[in-house]
Amino acid sequence: MLAGRRVVLGVTGGIAAYKAVEVCRRLVDLGAHVVPVMTEDATRFVGEVTLSALASEPVQRSLWREQDPIPHTALGQQADLVVVVPATARFLGTYAAGISDGLLAATVLATRAPVVVCPAMHTEMWEHPAVQENLATLRRRGVHVVEPGSGRLAGGDVGTGRLADPVDIVAAVTARLARSGGADLAGVTVVVSAGGTREAIDPVRFITNRSSGKQGHAIADAAAARGADVVLVTTVARPVPAGATVVRVDTAAEMADAVLAAAEHADVVVMAAAVADFRPAVAAPVKLRKTDGPPQLVLEPTVDILAELGRRRRPGQVLVGFAAETGDPEERALQKLRSKGADLVVANDVAAPGSGFDGDTNAVTIYGADGRRTVVGLSSKGEVAGAVLDRVVACRAARGPDDVTPPTRSDP
Ligand code: CTP
Repeated sequence: MLAGRRVVLGVTGGIAAYKAVEVCRRLVDLGAHVVPVMTEDATRFVGEVTLSALASEPVQRSLWREQDPIPHTALGQQADLVVVVPATARFLGTYAAGISDGLLAATVLATRAPVVVCPAMHTEMWEHPAVQENLATLRRRGVHVVEPGSGRLAGGDVGTGRLADPVDIVAAVTARLARSGGADLAGVTVVVSAGGTREAIDPVRFITNRSSGKQGHAIADAAAARGADVVLVTTVARPVPAGATVVRVDTAAEMADAVLAAAEHADVVVMAAAVADFRPAVAAPVKLRKTDGPPQLVLEPTVDILAELGRRRRPGQVLVGFAAETGDPEERALQKLRSKGADLVVANDVAAPGSGFDGDTNAVTIYGADGRRTVVGLSSKGEVAGAVLDRVVACRAARGPDDVTPPTRSDP
């Protein structure tokens, strides 16, 4: 699965360093060429010999090697991916600040390959604003953060900060490599809807919502970059991916027509648009006058496009919905997953800092009809798009293109 892929495995000095050994073994089992790099502190927690024996080549620790004066450049340039397990608060700080204080820090600065960091530390450190701000900086720059879990920590304390499970770390690495491999959606037709619809009251006024379309366009961009044939149905004038078929629409009815038609030939449909649930039953043909008094708006429901897609689903087609909620979105997201027949629902709390409508970041949880959930902490909308498409790819792989069975609906 990872044959021919070169992974630099960075290990920094935290108690969870012993779990890097398990990550190393699993990556090697999947066929990756694993290049281990340890910080000096890491060697206090796990034996260099152990990692050297399990990895594809001996551990490297120093910037100062006689036979190779600039080891970090080669490590960074040749890597297909760099993963840091565990990533201590100190490592995250030096990386965010761009300080190359050792071989590993120099390597992550010298690479253009994707970087995955897996933080692990005590809860107090994890929650410290300095650490969270460093993580936000790294996320904004496209670094993938595998969030720590909650559980028993060193010294017997219990809380957030425990290194993610090695299985989940390897899954994140595999997904990121598939993405950077470039073509895991080659030949796949992906329809994406984006933006908020506008429902006319009269020729000059309309009802709309705060959607900027940025998340939907980011999904279209990411899908195109991964080789998909993209059809983008959008209400907003934003840049579109080269080669995509773009359909500009305004109203929920126009969006329904365009999406349902495109979906007849699609393998994946992502409903990122904020579609009006109701529209004025009659739009006044001429501008309403103030002197006529407050208009009595009679509203009627629009077509629920996602639910309709669920009813018309083609064999093997993957359907993705969004749930922008205020407050904890879990319950409503799970309910939408079931009621609309979607495979995935991407939920966010639009009232939470950094995950509102018009920003460049988002924080989401992706709920699957298979019971799996993926938490994507505050990240760029491009990074969120990548995580959504990773789950789409996983759905397609699990189902197979000719499988006509609808997804099993179970609560996690
Ligand atoms: N959606 C749709 N057609 C509609 C309304 C919503 O396809 N007429 C899609 C959205 O694009 C999104 C998902 O359904 O992917 C959830 O949208 P949301 O507005 O959150 O859900 P609603 O079913 O409208 O429920 P509510 O507004 O009560 O939360």
